[in-house]
Amino acid sequence: LVIVLDFGGQYNQLVARRVRECNVYCEIYSYKVDIEKIKEMNPKGIILTGGPNSCYEENSPTYSKELFELGIPVLGLCYGAQLMQHVMGGKVERADVREYGKSNLTVNNNSPLFSDVAKDSICWMSHFDYISQIAPGFEITATTPDCPVAACENIAQNLYAIQFHPEVLHTQEGTKMLSNFVLNVCGCQGDWRMDCFVEEQIKAIREKVGNGKVLCALSGGVDSSVAAVLLSKAIGNQLTCVFVDHGLLRKNEGDEVEAIFGPNGNYDLNFIRVNAQQRYYEKLKGIEDPETKRKIIGEEFIRVFEEEAQKIGTVDFLVQGTIYPDVVESGLGGESAVIKSHHNVGGLPDCVDFKEIIEPLRDLFKDEVRKVGLELGIPEYLVFRQPFPGPGLGIRIIGEVTEEKVKIVQDADFIYREEIAKVGLDRSIGQYFAALTNMRSVGVMGDERTYDYAVVLRAVNTIDFMTAESAEIPYQVLNKVMSRIINEVRGVNRVFYDITSKPPGTIEFE
Ligand code: XMP
Repeated sequence: LVIVLDFGGQYNQLVARRVRECNVYCEIYSYKVDIEKIKEMNPKGIILTGGPNSCYEENSPTYSKELFELGIPVLGLCYGAQLMQHVMGGKVERADVREYGKSNLTVNNNSPLFSDVAKDSICWMSHFDYISQIAPGFEITATTPDCPVAACENIAQNLYAIQFHPEVLHTQEGTKMLSNFVLNVCGCQGDWRMDCFVEEQIKAIREKVGNGKVLCALSGGVDSSVAAVLLSKAIGNQLTCVFVDHGLLRKNEGDEVEAIFGPNGNYDLNFIRVNAQQRYYEKLKGIEDPETKRKIIGEEFIRVFEEEAQKIGTVDFLVQGTIYPDVVESGLGGESAVIKSHHNVGGLPDCVDFKEIIEPLRDLFKDEVRKVGLELGIPEYLVFRQPFPGPGLGIRIIGEVTEEKVKIVQDADFIYREEIAKVGLDRSIGQYFAALTNMRSVGVMGDERTYDYAVVLRAVNTIDFMTAESAEIPYQVLNKVMSRIINEVRGVNRVFYDITSKPPGTIEFE
């Protein structure tokens, strides 16, 4: 285990991903985690992330010197590097100019961090402060033209500091540097793989569940499908999967999910479909606030489950397909601010009627979940389905949700997806969908005035769904989609294309 201590930097998840790409398991914790807890976990290495603060200012995130005296290798990145120097007796100051972007890096290959790393390469910098004086016992191991201490280390104490960001792919040799740290300096084996994960999870699930009954919330998305199949491998008949059709699914999706996982499908999951559409529309009537909508959808989802569970008899555990980015974005892991309350995590009401929740994928990133899916023999077309959020079209309809609006967005989205697939872009775009703005405007159709809704199309490319760029879809394709939507979907007279990246936008609209 390697621990990533999060000081609020924007790249904290990337650090964890890169470490895992070296087949080393790691977890992110807030810098506020107690030193005793760290000792208990006994990690092989600790990485301190970047962060937006200045370490010499009062009230800035910090850590006691003890952390650097545990004998566990520590690697500080950016803010983490400055903090290490500050705490260990070096000096950090504000630079005259901010260094941001690519810089020419020269490293000393004698450093264990830089063994087999090209002597000259490009690195990615993003900092205001700089290390003006290294702490006693340290030695400078890398420089850039603007940064006298791009890296320094104290080998005897196993302390390493890097001012730039090795986790960002613009740093050409970054992956090699991180792998040098976790494999060579920390001595990790690098044997954490998905087949081990599956085996370990199956064992852990069996131990935890015993003879208990388990209810699984199956949405048909990648995460819950992988969770359900994993559970069924572990405990077979003790599992019941309930699929709630909340009326906020994509067009035909309810029937498709039933075809795959239902009694006539490939899996034996004790599949139950609940048609709760009207119940959701009732609850959402008149509700416009995005967070309130999310909470209602999340709560209603649990209520429906409780009712199903009562029909089945005593249920001990509830399974959810929560994955790591959901946990982090909900403000439960690390230091990141709460962006939205995620359906699977934050939206959970307090009075859940189950003994415990099982979240077997809670520590995994999306690409890792897909690997587990393939490992479990789930067909590729299911594993590589584009993500669909728990609250469904509820967060793709801005403002009040009504049955009529759901129908509009379902039809528009269906056309959009059909046209994208026709030109073969369906596997290369990260996520794409239609949403409904809460805006109506004047138009003209067949000599008549219209006053109808505007649909917005979104398509983004992303590696980890934490940041995203709008995808460049050929204009002819957009044009075709626009014309089909206007002609085929009643109630729409305008189509927009959203070019906003994340940040500042989010991928969904609410
Ligand atoms: P945002 O809109 O937060 O989306 O940029 C990032 C990714 O998360 C998905 N998403 C959700 N998934 N429950 C989910 O299971 C949710 O409440 C939720 N909100 C957003 C979104 O589709 C995108 O892939």
